[in-house]
Amino acid sequence: MDVENANCKMRVSQCTDMEVLPIERPIKIDHEITGLEKLVEEIHAIFSRDHVNVQDVQKLMLGYKSSPKDWKKYAKFDRFRYTRNLVDAGNGAFNIMILCWGAGHASPIHDHADSHCFMKILSGNLEEVRYDWPDHVQPEVLKKLKNNSCCDKMADQDGCRCEQDGGYNAGDMKEIGRNRLELNDVCYINDALGLHRVENPSHADGAVSLHLYCPPFDSCRVFDSRTGTPTTVTTTFWSINGKKVKRVMEANECADSQN
Ligand code: SIN
Repeated sequence: MDVENANCKMRVSQCTDMEVLPIERPIKIDHEITGLEKLVEEIHAIFSRDHVNVQDVQKLMLGYKSSPKDWKKYAKFDRFRYTRNLVDAGNGAFNIMILCWGAGHASPIHDHADSHCFMKILSGNLEEVRYDWPDHVQPEVLKKLKNNSCCDKMADQDGCRCEQDGGYNAGDMKEIGRNRLELNDVCYINDALGLHRVENPSHADGAVSLHLYCPPFDSCRVFDSRTGTPTTVTTTFWSINGKKVKRVMEANECADSQN
């Protein structure tokens, strides 16, 4: 199963009928897209089809060349942590947001709740660090791919403790790759490809990124970097359509408020 050719109208673990196309590298832009509004329009058009291939979305996002005038109204920073700013709720099929990273801000190691995640750099640089799933935690898609589960596999092993038992070992998080992402780069991840954390490596400059999640999710798991212990957290927005929210809203509330 080639997860990068998955149909991103479905959760990653439900992608059984994907087109198995060879992935061209580097992915080439089909056409240039002038402006963020136009990009959002084209994303809506692509998601009105039954089948949306990951590569087609990557190509679209690469076709847009970042211009701060397009997105500055969404770029709301906080001194203490990175912010998530909703740009478009995508009729519930996907959502598009802008993340603002102050100097040194980073996300925790996290999964993508069985969704597809595309990320494009609009300003500055980000470093993406990828990790393997810790031994005792498996996402839906890997259970399907391997046709087994952590608990089935481990059942016979002496001392096996599964996720439910809280049996985690120090050193469980294994780094599997690092990508430096520069202006206009696009990257893609889903749970079959691993976990990641994203960091603004600059000590002086902010960074801004555009994220497309399909389907949207309102919670995901974050992992302790030493032990791999997962915790489920709610995802929230700092602003919606360029307006700072009074109370930080959960992602599902925002989809409701836009419909
Ligand atoms: C998030 O959506 O909060 C996390 C962004 C990332 O690091 O992928």
